[in-house]
Amino acid sequence: MQYEDLIIDIQDKVAVIRLNRPKALNALNDNMMNELGDALLKFDADENIGCIVLTGSEKAFAAGADIAAMADYTYPDTFTQGYISRNWEHILRVRKPVVGAVAGYALGGGCELAMMCDFLIAADSAKFGQPEIKVGVTPGAGGTQRLPRAIGKAKAMDLLLTARTIDAAEAERIGLVSRVVPADKLLEETLAAAKTIAAMPTSVAMMIKDCVNRAFETTLTDGVAYERRLFQAAFGTPAQKEGMHAFLEKRLPNFDGL
Ligand code: HXC
Repeated sequence: MQYEDLIIDIQDKVAVIRLNRPKALNALNDNMMNELGDALLKFDADENIGCIVLTGSEKAFAAGADIAAMADYTYPDTFTQGYISRNWEHILRVRKPVVGAVAGYALGGGCELAMMCDFLIAADSAKFGQPEIKVGVTPGAGGTQRLPRAIGKAKAMDLLLTARTIDAAEAERIGLVSRVVPADKLLEETLAAAKTIAAMPTSVAMMIKDCVNRAFETTLTDGVAYERRLFQAAFGTPAQKEGMHAFLEKRLPNFDGL
């Protein structure tokens, strides 16, 4: 499928999805979210892909949901028709790792979309915030839920209620992003991480992602039991045989297709 609002690039086993509405700082509209869902689920099902990178432009990952599109929406539009939500959560159905690479603005729905990635690498130019209150709405794609889980209640309340924007250094300090890199190295560094992940056994990467996400949905005891089941299941994968025997034979493992 040819996309209007996305640019796709495939390198080795990594699919890079670039949000591309430069004139609107990648404001997220219905078409872009439909296309994003289509691309994500297509790459998730593609056995030649081991990791997905989601990124934007130098100026903006995404400056939020498209205010011009939604300014005149009514309650039936949002509730009954599901505008600005019905196609936002396809990313949560992706079972392979998704790394977000953020430069410039990640605001409102842009910050929420970034937080739905598995982890974030930020350019030193990145700016994060949830300024929805300034346009008279609450966050609508998990900002009030994922932000406190990621950075704690005090910081989350501060950002959500004051609408202040934080820079990349603060985002790293409070645990919203995993690394900060120079802006001109963002894609290179993110691709290096994504290629490292894609060279691991995809089946095990999917198990680890599943386990970590379970941590946010269950108790410690149930989460550890869930992890134990997947650890045991790993012994049914060719990846475990290859990984452990390669170690014992003092050679590099070959996880191709595993
Ligand atoms: C539509 C947007 C936009 C947005 C920017 N643009 N953000 N269009 N929706 N969210 C457009 C501007 O209208 C402008 O178009 C162009 O992009 C460049 O933006 P400027 O404002 O001129 O750029 P700048 O002065 O550099 O300021 C950048 C900015 C600012 C600080 C990011 O654009 C801004 O505050 N944007 C809105 C951020 C926001 O409130 N986001 C939350 C939205 S609510 P023209 O045509 O004039 O050149 C939300 C709810 C999520 O996200 C719900 C999820 C379910």
